[in-house]
Amino acid sequence: MHRFDTVTSLRQHLNSLRSTQKVGLVPTMGALHEGHITLIEKARQENDLVVSSVFVNPVQFNNPDDLARYPRTLEEDSRKLEAAGCDVLFAPSVEEMYPAPPALRLNFGELETVMEGAFRPGHFNGVGIVVAKLFNIVQPDRAYFGQKDLQQVAVIRRLIRDLSFPVELIRCPTVREDDGLAMSSRNRNLTTDERRQATTLFQALTLGRELLAEGYDVAQVKAAMAGFFADKPAFRLEYVEIVNADTLQTASEVLAPGQTAICLAAHLGNVRLIDNLVF
Ligand code: PAF
Repeated sequence: MHRFDTVTSLRQHLNSLRSTQKVGLVPTMGALHEGHITLIEKARQENDLVVSSVFVNPVQFNNPDDLARYPRTLEEDSRKLEAAGCDVLFAPSVEEMYPAPPALRLNFGELETVMEGAFRPGHFNGVGIVVAKLFNIVQPDRAYFGQKDLQQVAVIRRLIRDLSFPVELIRCPTVREDDGLAMSSRNRNLTTDERRQATTLFQALTLGRELLAEGYDVAQVKAAMAGFFADKPAFRLEYVEIVNADTLQTASEVLAPGQTAICLAAHLGNVRLIDNLVF
């Protein structure tokens, strides 16, 4: 595996290969887990060249403590990427990616008025900027993102459409631990006791899906899911939403198969967790 930390050296390497090889990009912020590895493996199957970036993007953090706490494990990540068949690792410094703070502001309209957009102002501006930069630097044919960040997928789909990036977005299923907890780099920051309790998010989502299947209406299901957290003081529930999985707008009833998403976010100790089920 080749490893680059400057834009120029990565571009030089890729320029000679891109004309004959399909390039798959897996953007990450590192602290890699099995979810990331499945993205790499899928990219490996579908492309000639797999490029992954490891960059903790300060512009997408609206909370400085969250940025400071974000796990950074580059050497371990590098070994995992190589073992998974990644060809190129791009691990730039903050100064390399942002020689000056970006003046550009991206606004994703109604996509960012809900859920993560509402609770993390500026987050999707930062995601959009860094993903657009990575698309320009790597010029991939395909880019791979996990469904756990469903709203991010919708935002990037819009970014691709609005800026005419010739990139195919591939949304990959959420990878879960045995007890249902969605894999996330932030899970590393949970204490042992919090980790044991963290499966509550998946249990609440499963409850919501069952109640919708039984015919309860959206308001009743959201109330039942919020109630599920009521006797669990370790959690601070931020939102439960039932939305259209593509537009992220509130759904008033169950939509066509594959279109309804139940999404939630909750704080557990110092860690903010998100998860969703699409069905
Ligand atoms: O999902 C992530 O890890 C990040 O938001 C991404 C897409 C790598 C952009 O920094």
